[in-house]
Amino acid sequence: MKKFFSVLLFSIVIMSCKTENNLKISSPNKKIEVLVEIKSGAALYSVKFKDSVLIQPSNLGFEFKNSKPMSGNFLIDTYKITGSNNTWTQVWGENKTVIDNYNQLEVTLQERVEPFRKMNVFFKVYDDGLGFRYEIPKQKNIDSLLISEELTEFNFTKNYTSWYTPANFDSYEMLFKNAILNEVENANTPITFESNNNVFISIHEANLTNYADMTLLKNKNKDFSFRSNLVPWPDGVKVKTVTPMVSPWRTIQITDSAEKLVESNLMLNLNEPNIIEDTSWIQPMKYVGIWWGMHLGTQTWTLGERHGATTTETKKYIDFAANNNITGVLVEGWNTGWENWGKKGAFDFITPYEDFNLNEIAAYATSKNIALIGHVETGGDAAFFEENLDKVFSMYHKLGVKTVKTGYAGAIQTKGQFHHGQYMVNHYRKVVEKAAKYQIMINAHEPIKPTGIRRTYPNMMTREGARGMEWNAWSSGNPPEHYTILPFTRGLAGPLDYTPGTFDILFKNAKNRVKWNDLDDGTSRINTTLAKQLALFVVLYSPLQMASDLIENYENQPAFKFIQDLGVDWETSKVLNGKIGDYITIVRKDKVSDNWFLGSITDENERELIVNLSFLDKDKTYNAEIFADGKDANWKTNPQEIEIFKKEVNSKSTLTIKLASGGGQAIKFSPKK
Ligand code: NOJ
Ligand code: CA
Repeated sequence: MKKFFSVLLFSIVIMSCKTENNLKISSPNKKIEVLVEIKSGAALYSVKFKDSVLIQPSNLGFEFKNSKPMSGNFLIDTYKITGSNNTWTQVWGENKTVIDNYNQLEVTLQERVEPFRKMNVFFKVYDDGLGFRYEIPKQKNIDSLLISEELTEFNFTKNYTSWYTPANFDSYEMLFKNAILNEVENANTPITFESNNNVFISIHEANLTNYADMTLLKNKNKDFSFRSNLVPWPDGVKVKTVTPMVSPWRTIQITDSAEKLVESNLMLNLNEPNIIEDTSWIQPMKYVGIWWGMHLGTQTWTLGERHGATTTETKKYIDFAANNNITGVLVEGWNTGWENWGKKGAFDFITPYEDFNLNEIAAYATSKNIALIGHVETGGDAAFFEENLDKVFSMYHKLGVKTVKTGYAGAIQTKGQFHHGQYMVNHYRKVVEKAAKYQIMINAHEPIKPTGIRRTYPNMMTREGARGMEWNAWSSGNPPEHYTILPFTRGLAGPLDYTPGTFDILFKNAKNRVKWNDLDDGTSRINTTLAKQLALFVVLYSPLQMASDLIENYENQPAFKFIQDLGVDWETSKVLNGKIGDYITIVRKDKVSDNWFLGSITDENERELIVNLSFLDKDKTYNAEIFADGKDANWKTNPQEIEIFKKEVNSKSTLTIKLASGGGQAIKFSPKK
């Protein structure tokens, strides 16, 4: 009976309305309102938030290479209003349960003139934003679709502040820009906007399936206006498909605080439920790996004197993980081909170098209860990987390896294809689907951006798709502010394999580094304090969380205890405070214990944040283990000074979190026995 009431599907109103010219739908709490109207034959949508217009009438529709545009001559044929108030459970995630409460408007548009085509547009309106998607149903006169332009517009009303990376068809690994909306020429999504009166908006897409990545392009002839610019195929067509076609959801997250934006579940709610029946093999974890040495230039991926992935070295990492409450060990550079980087067919993905005994290592890891993480670097040769998916995944499956990190560094080797075009979107999906068949979890680097498909395929654990830790090893790196923008932009889309945890911040222990990359100008270092490195484990969510430094740098380091104790999967997460580009504090409650973990970070400015601990259980007293910036710490000249101390707290306590310039703080709260 209780179950029955937890799922509420309500009223279906079907109206035939050849004369209706506008339709309205609002969010369950009535604060967001969407209007759909026909004006001179064009289908337009607009959005209001708390009675003020955020998006003025904006175009919907398509242009095709093989038929007339679908953008005018529309009338509203029928419409349907439905809704649902439901909760569902995640296999893993920031929160165990997610509320899915929305009102939906489905509009069937019909052309008034030849060829009388039909197009449906679905609007789902939640309290934290909305999504809309197109459907071109199967019908007479349309079979194959060659979409040359998606005409979706986002016509804002005000010149908001924007946070974004410029549009790029191959990479999201850029520093964020902060500009007024009218100065944004183009952008990747998510792009986040902030008003001066507490309105936060982010545009992205959900469930990017068999379609091209949407970037935004400034509309030259209008103020405050963008249109969708899809990543093309080599021949310029954007999407090649057939009817019935459904597009990804175009999402507009809208909240009245920066904190709520980060807490939004819109992306997940706009994806299909999990389709993997047995999920027992899907497990979040912490991992270490043979990785940072290569980026620093003290080790190599290739065979030779400084080769990182040797049998001996890997066993050390396995032992270290086993002794330190870390579950996984990633090994890169174990397989042949790195010396032929950039050439077609360089990697066969399965042949080990002569100093790496794959079978021995796999058996050793199993004997120590450690999860070996496999690595497939394609060097952009996605087609060759695709041909070999069964071979690669069956090898890993036989070895007991349940996680594989993939990589697509460099240009896509199939001529004219981009990382973010439909061809690659489909490739990335094939990898996830095939991996699921072999019970393998995926961590993708140089990926397509996350759009919430982790809900449907919970083996799609985490991915890069941002300027991660590696850039600090061989470029001017990521400035202190980068981390305080990530959660409000790229972070809204889904988990990020940033790989925090560098303890040797100034690379003092990294002797004999060899420059291996043209971006390395010799000034590289980490632009944070040590305490901020710890805080990032909580702030930057990932179900696979890498402690990325060389294990030597963790030996005899009291600060490492925070990483050892850290949970990997969460009952619930809350954002206690946040200002885009300035600071953020997040707390997460462990799914398997009563411990809470807090991460708080600042940009280049030192600051004090006062937080109350009302999230803690009312009936318990907790030990707080605090990892704070040292008294004289700052990211520039004294990044490593850390103070570790304990305090007794309860749900009525308040804490003053002192953050150094470029600093952070990490806290573990555990109930007193
Ligand atoms: C780029 C990835 O981001 C990095 O993690 C990896 O080590 C290299 N490619 C080599 O595969
Ligand atoms: Ca990368």
